[in-house]
Amino acid sequence: MCGIVGIAGREPVVDRLIGALARLEYRGYDSAGIATLDHGEIQRRRASGKLVNLAEKLTLDPLEGVTGIGHTRWATHGAPTELNAHPHATPRVAVVHNGIIENYRSLLVELAADGYLPVTQTDSEVVAMMATRWLDLGLSPVAAVQATVSRLEGAFALLFLFHGEEGLIVAARQGSPLAIGHGDGEMFLGSDALALSLFTDRVTYLDDGDWAVVTPQKASIRTRDGMVASRILHHSNASSSIVEKGPYRHFMAKEIHEQPDAVSRVVGQFIDRATDTLVVRSPLAFDFATLGRMTVSACGTAYLAGAVGRYWFERYARLPVDIDVGSEFRYRQPPLQPEGLALFISQSGETADTLAALRYCAANGQHIASVVNVAESTIARESGSVFPLLCGPEIGVASTKAFTAQLTTLACLAIVAGRARGALDNAALAELVGALVSLPGALAKALTVEEDIAKIARGLSKASDVLFLGRGSLYPIALEGALKLKEISYIHAEGYAAGELKHGPIALVDETVPVVVIAPSDELIEKTISNMQEVCARGGKIILITDAQGAATHGAMAQQTILMPQVHPFVAPIIAAVAVQLLAYHAAVHLGADVDQPRNLAKSVTVE
Ligand code: F6R
Repeated sequence: MCGIVGIAGREPVVDRLIGALARLEYRGYDSAGIATLDHGEIQRRRASGKLVNLAEKLTLDPLEGVTGIGHTRWATHGAPTELNAHPHATPRVAVVHNGIIENYRSLLVELAADGYLPVTQTDSEVVAMMATRWLDLGLSPVAAVQATVSRLEGAFALLFLFHGEEGLIVAARQGSPLAIGHGDGEMFLGSDALALSLFTDRVTYLDDGDWAVVTPQKASIRTRDGMVASRILHHSNASSSIVEKGPYRHFMAKEIHEQPDAVSRVVGQFIDRATDTLVVRSPLAFDFATLGRMTVSACGTAYLAGAVGRYWFERYARLPVDIDVGSEFRYRQPPLQPEGLALFISQSGETADTLAALRYCAANGQHIASVVNVAESTIARESGSVFPLLCGPEIGVASTKAFTAQLTTLACLAIVAGRARGALDNAALAELVGALVSLPGALAKALTVEEDIAKIARGLSKASDVLFLGRGSLYPIALEGALKLKEISYIHAEGYAAGELKHGPIALVDETVPVVVIAPSDELIEKTISNMQEVCARGGKIILITDAQGAATHGAMAQQTILMPQVHPFVAPIIAAVAVQLLAYHAAVHLGADVDQPRNLAKSVTVE
């Protein structure tokens, strides 16, 4: 999704803007640009494609200035061309925008009547045009921003730069995230703390409706109604060092390998390692014991974590769970029981559809709990209870360590709920705690077969269609395997509940379609193996993800077997997640795909 940065500084800003934009590359983008005040004049350079194209332009045609704004654009309205790249500018004002201006068409009609005509296909340009009109009518820069923003509908984080106004950036936030970084005699703005991490760890987050006047000395924040606002100063831990790739070729590989540690940190939040007993370190603000139902909403991979969680909460806590993707939930307007619990899962904490579902539930009297990675995100800030993932920045667009940390958090919460509801006796609880305690070690073991998986992935990369099958809590992992493969390798893949195969998808099976069957040894393995036999009977080629026990009894039927460590079935989905991640990763690497920034994808999806 678009990323924005701004510097009201005292030293040249161009290289620093590029550096900060590089920190935002992980969000996904298809063009980039910067604008500075060069002796009071607005100057800009823009380029389609990667940041390196913009950097090359700047080498050939440098920019000067100590005040500037920058942008990485993820196209929504208009192709990812240089013309449509931000900043959008007139001689009087330059603007960068993250979000969507929903009423831009009607505003363009209004502006056209006054002689202001667009030159791009974007929704964002209208913001620069409106601000220019207000300036032409004699308003001050700050008043022009206020007048402009009051007319905008939709979601936006905006930065404005004005002709002749050295040292001034005006910012506004509605829906899309925006943070202010505090330096010494310099101030910074960015879409997130990572963008600011090159400059400062002192960060203030704007609330929805806030706007700010930023100069090198200070930031004055006001609410939508013009009241002076004081927002908390956070000390961000998004330090520069933790966003390096280290010895890995891609962030995704690094993050896959960080999973034993990430999961261990989550387990440590819920389990006292000295006694291997369940502990809830701070009292819950809601009571699992009396809950009639829990509502879960999330998007993409985070939704699939919730889908696995549903199996756990229903089985181990006997707690009914309603789950839906955020984009559907928000418009279904589901009736919710008073005093219910609504749980939201998000790595970024900024996903627009998840946030909208959260706000619907908050307005309908639900207690809001969230499982999030970015601690200062909007979803975290709007939640009554937050279960942090603590897995550090996830830079690869395809979610990996956040997914397994989400799964582990949900597994822990499910047994907390099971104990509170009397659904688990001590022996059962001890067994499940034991499974969680051994999880980090098992994940580390799963990673040792990476080379074997890489070989299998090389074969898989020749396919144009792949099916993934799983049953029970492994079914969402089949969906996740298909999602991962298609998003980073662009191979078409679909996941199915193994039992659904014969209800339609089996028509696709022939010798050209590899079928990845996720079947660790559990109470359902025989059923899944029957479905595998149906595939074999039709000439399908099986890649079986199982454990030693499963391989011993059923491995002969598969063309290839990925051997995962033997674990308790409770945590088997978390182990299998690693196998499907590695399969997708190595297929994509073999195909030469841009693994960390796959085409068309954004990391933080802040628009509907
Ligand atoms: C897939 C992926 C996405 C995200 C989804 C939700 O690998 O990363 O499907 O899971 O966009 O994002 P968050 O978790 O930030 O709400």
